[in-house]
Amino acid sequence: MRPRLLDLCCGQGGAAVGYHRAGFDVTGVDLALKRQPDGTYVDDKAIPARYPFEFIKADAFEVLADAEFMARFDAIHASWPCQAHSVASKYKGTAGRHKDLLTPGRAAMQAAGLPWVIENVPGAPMRADYLLCGCMFGLPGLRRERWFETSWHGFDLNMSHDHREPVITVAGHGPPSWVREGVSVPVTTADWRRAMKIDWMTRDGLAQAIPPAYTEWVGARLLEHLESEAAAA
Ligand SMILES: C[S@@+](CC[C@H](N)C(=O)[O-])C[C@H]1O[C@@H](n2cnc3c(N)ncnc32)[C@H](O)[C@@H]1O
Repeated sequence: MRPRLLDLCCGQGGAAVGYHRAGFDVTGVDLALKRQPDGTYVDDKAIPARYPFEFIKADAFEVLADAEFMARFDAIHASWPCQAHSVASKYKGTAGRHKDLLTPGRAAMQAAGLPWVIENVPGAPMRADYLLCGCMFGLPGLRRERWFETSWHGFDLNMSHDHREPVITVAGHGPPSWVREGVSVPVTTADWRRAMKIDWMTRDGLAQAIPPAYTEWVGARLLEHLESEAAAA
């Protein structure tokens, strides 16, 4: 039987597809709300429509506290929102407007008692057990570094970055203005899909996602960890 992974803050499923390829059955949980320019929220219909596995619209903290629900799973992944930690928010001076969910999220995952993986942006308040980028996975045009902290203190010697070719930025609603001004060809959603090797997401979904290649690799490490725990039991 395939091990079962709970994918918290799942978005449209970039992380999910990588774990599925690594050998997990995946269930996603997301609030699926979209912030409007006036600060109110509406349902984000693209998340349940595009997420490729079982999807539950819920608060990640509530499901982590539900012991009966958590008994369905063997491991947890969480992509807590990065806006409080991202370079773009720090550059724009908006980071303080966003709550750090990663720190209380880690505590809630720890309390749930299952092996876990947290993914976030460089500079987030976490230990980077694995530091991954598109250039390490045959996605040479993609400069998208992401950190992964694991409950088992994973360790690996990774290759360094290699971005000699022109790179693409997948963020916000397009490349930042200081890049856009120097770009003669518009960067389309199709360009983002090609760069991330993701063909099922909207532009908003892509801007928040990680390429499945990252979690296919992390998922293989998680499987090894689950197997070594089972052997030691
Ligand atoms: C970085 S995105 C996830 C990207 C996704 N892991 C992927 O690879 O495609 C973060 C997601 O967290 C969701 N979110 C924020 N707070 C949440 C909460 N308390 N419970 C569940 N989901 C939440 C947002 O709706 C958003 O879709």
